[in-house]
Amino acid sequence: MSEVSEVSEVSELGEPREPTSSPTQTRAVLSCTGLARAFGALRAVDGVDLALPVGARHALIGPNGAGKSTLFQLLTGGLRPSAGRVWLDGRDVTRMSDARRARLGIGQTFQHSSLFLSMTAAENVALAVERARGAPWSPLPRQRPALRRRIDELLADVDLLARRDMPVSALSHGECRQLELALALAAAPRVLLLDEPAAGMAPAETERLAALIHELPTELTLLFVEHDLDLVFRLATRVTVLHLGKVLLSGTPEEVQGSAEVQEAYLGTGRRADLFVTDAGPERRDGDREAESP
Ligand SMILES: Nc1ncnc2c1ncn2[C@@H]1O[C@H](COP(=O)(O)OP(=O)(O)OP(=O)(O)O)[C@@H](O)[C@H]1O
Ligand SMILES: [Mg+2]
Repeated sequence: MSEVSEVSEVSELGEPREPTSSPTQTRAVLSCTGLARAFGALRAVDGVDLALPVGARHALIGPNGAGKSTLFQLLTGGLRPSAGRVWLDGRDVTRMSDARRARLGIGQTFQHSSLFLSMTAAENVALAVERARGAPWSPLPRQRPALRRRIDELLADVDLLARRDMPVSALSHGECRQLELALALAAAPRVLLLDEPAAGMAPAETERLAALIHELPTELTLLFVEHDLDLVFRLATRVTVLHLGKVLLSGTPEEVQGSAEVQEAYLGTGRRADLFVTDAGPERRDGDREAESP
C-alpha cells in the first residue's frame, strides 16, 4: 500500500513545488538526485543519485538493511522522500503517487509476495491487466477474448501457460515469482524494478528466472535488488552498492567484484573472504549495453 497519495510537497527544504525538468536528467529513463528517507533518527536512504539509461540492466546490492527496498519505494512512489528528486524521462515525478507513476511506465515486483493464493494464475493476471487499463475493480473480470489473449501472452512470456488455470496455492515458489513478473509486465512498463526476484528459489528455479529476465525486451529498463550475487553478475551490466543508505560504489560488475571496500561493507573490516567467487564465475550474457555512469 502506498504511503503517498498524490504528494503535495516533497520536503521541508523549500524546494520548488511545480514539476520541473532538468536537462541533465533527460538522457536517463529513471533517475534520482539527492534522494533521502529517514525513519526517525535512522537515515535509511541518505542522498542517493542514480540514473538508468534505456535498456539498463542495473543491479542494486548491499547488506541487509542497506536501504535497497526503501530506495525502491522512493522510486516507485510507495514512500515519500525526506529530500531529493525522482525523474522519469526528464520529468519530475517526486510528488506523484505510485499509481500515477505506474501509469507513466514504472513497474515493480515486491520483496514479499503480492498474489491472491486462492485464485488461478490467469485470474491473477486478469486483475493486473484490468488494473493497468484503469478498469473498475472486479474480483473476477469476465475473460472476454481480448483479455484472454493478453493473459495468455503474459503467461507465455513467463513460461506459465501450462499453469493457466491452476490455483496459485498449487504453484511452486519459483512459479509464483514468475507469475509476479507477469503481473508487473501486465502494465507494459518501460522501467521495471524487481526486489529480490530470486529470493528463496532453488537453483533450477533461479536458472529459469535468469533466462526469463534475460529474454525481456532489450528496451525495457531494469533495476533489480538481489542477494544472489552470482545472478547479479550474470545479468547486470552495471551495479550500485548501497551501504548505510549511501552509494558506496557504482560501476561495472568487474569494478564491484574487485573492490575491497565493497567486500568489507558486506563482511566487516579485516575479513576479505572470497565473497564474489562462485563456481560458475561471473558469466555475463549481455554486452555492455549501459554506456553511461550514474
Ligand atoms: N517503515 C519503516 N519504519 C522504520 N524503519 C524502517 C522502515 N522500513 C525500513 N526501515 C529500516 O530502514 C533500513 C533500511 O531498510 P530496507 O528494508 O530498505 O533495507 P534493505 O536493504 O532492503 O534490506 P534487506 O536486504 O534485508 O531487504 C533498515 O534499518 C530498516 O529496519
Ligand atoms: Mg529489502
